Amino acid sequence: MKILLLLFFLFLFLITTRVSPEYTRPNPRPLIFRPHNRSDSDPQQVHISLAGKDHMRVSWITSDKKVKSVVEYGKMAGKYDRAATGESTSYRYFFYESGKIHHVKIGPLEPSTTYYYRCGGYGAEFSFRTPPVTFPVEFAVAGDLGQTEWTESTLAHIGARDYDVFLLPGDLSYADAQQPLWDSFGRLVEPYASTRPWMVTEGNHEIETFPIIYPHGFRAYNARWLMPYQESLSSSNLYYSLDVAGAHIIMLGSYTDFDSDSDQYKWLQADLASIDRIKTPWIFVLIHAPWYNSNLAHKGEGGSMRQAMEKMLYDARVDVVFAGHVHAYERFTRVYDEKADECGPIHVTIGDGGNREGLAMSFEDASPSISLYREASFGHGRLRVFNSTHAHWSWHRNNETYSVMADEVWLESLSSSTACKEVTKSSKAPKDEL
Ligand SMILES: *[C@@H]1O[C@H](CO)[C@@H](O)[C@H](O)[C@H]1NC(C)=O
Ligand SMILES: *[C@@H]1O[C@H](CO)[C@@H](O)[C@H](O)[C@H]1NC(C)=O
Ligand SMILES: *[C@@H]1O[C@H](CO)[C@@H](O)[C@H](O)[C@H]1NC(C)=O
Ligand SMILES: [Fe+2]
Repeated sequence: MKILLLLFFLFLFLITTRVSPEYTRPNPRPLIFRPHNRSDSDPQQVHISLAGKDHMRVSWITSDKKVKSVVEYGKMAGKYDRAATGESTSYRYFFYESGKIHHVKIGPLEPSTTYYYRCGGYGAEFSFRTPPVTFPVEFAVAGDLGQTEWTESTLAHIGARDYDVFLLPGDLSYADAQQPLWDSFGRLVEPYASTRPWMVTEGNHEIETFPIIYPHGFRAYNARWLMPYQESLSSSNLYYSLDVAGAHIIMLGSYTDFDSDSDQYKWLQADLASIDRIKTPWIFVLIHAPWYNSNLAHKGEGGSMRQAMEKMLYDARVDVVFAGHVHAYERFTRVYDEKADECGPIHVTIGDGGNREGLAMSFEDASPSISLYREASFGHGRLRVFNSTHAHWSWHRNNETYSVMADEVWLESLSSSTACKEVTKSSKAPKDEL
């Protein structure tokens, strides 16, 4: 009887996951808890993020609240000829009280340059490399990370490459209100996030609202993962934009208002209007809940946001929209309004960083014609932008300790497409005349 049941489930499994049947899907792996093992004044959970033109924000936490929010830095190891002072914050969540969370903006910095730095005057030296100002530039992309042994595997594969900036479309720690897990996550990612900028947007696991007591949510996320929203004229840490080399990257918030009368909508409108396609020929957008998804998990959840904002992104000729949320990989063709459209963005779901919830194994039986590749495996993406017209996207599945490239595609920027460019110009013309 047991064997029959097992065979039945195996059969179900094989028909619902349309992938190479000889490959056994990995199960979720155990959580990794990284305890606090440094002195109280030493920096923990160090991470960096781009903060406006030529600047980097260094963020870290100390248990000792007397440590100053100062970063010493320079281009030679152990020799800090510059220093900057920033701000600090902390937060409470029921009985939990965070350490002192420091945010210090440093710069102006030179591009493609390694800087050595020390946080708060204590502890070990860290270093990072600034991104280039011109092509080529390389991004690593992975969503729904969590903090399991799979997360560690994904991060190790990403870290083995010489990328410039990490992009995360939401769901970071999976702390789910257990605040010490935010600290543990910070320690787990530090080796990566202290050496390359991590640009993140929020997912549902960042919300952490509690009725009456914490109605607005995002307490831990906003305090710990401060992103350059002020630098990009946004009024909320939940959506912002940045320029890296020739790419304009827009981070949207799936879990804050997005309707046409919302602040996010108006900000996006202004941000898109301000893009100079000569300076940044590429536009990439990150959201958490996918607008296109043929997985049975979270089906349709991104629908209302898509309806509110898709036309704006289409008219602006956004090149790619990356989403997370669904714990699988899926790549769509260029789409607009649920149909293939050569001037629409490519949509990619990459919510397969390795969190404790495991994979979203079941896709709709028939793959929609606009879905070009789908697979439920943990992994990460690599976006290499070579010049103003060509970029290469690839998806790398975690195969135990190996990383195996399973999907790849060359991208041509919409700003270089004559067919699509003309439409943009004419559709923008009435606005220019106002
Ligand atoms: C602290 O923890 C990290 C991560 O587990 C480990 O690599 C390091 O050796 C530990 N340091 C000490 C002093 O125990
Ligand atoms: C852009 O990069 C692609 C891929 O490397 C290359 O084939 C193409 O010739 C480049 N275009 C220009 C204008 O350099
Ligand atoms: C996993 O890696 C092994 C060893 O490199 C290889 O033989 C196998 O084909 C890989 N499987 C997948 C699904 O990538
Ligand atoms: Fe999610």
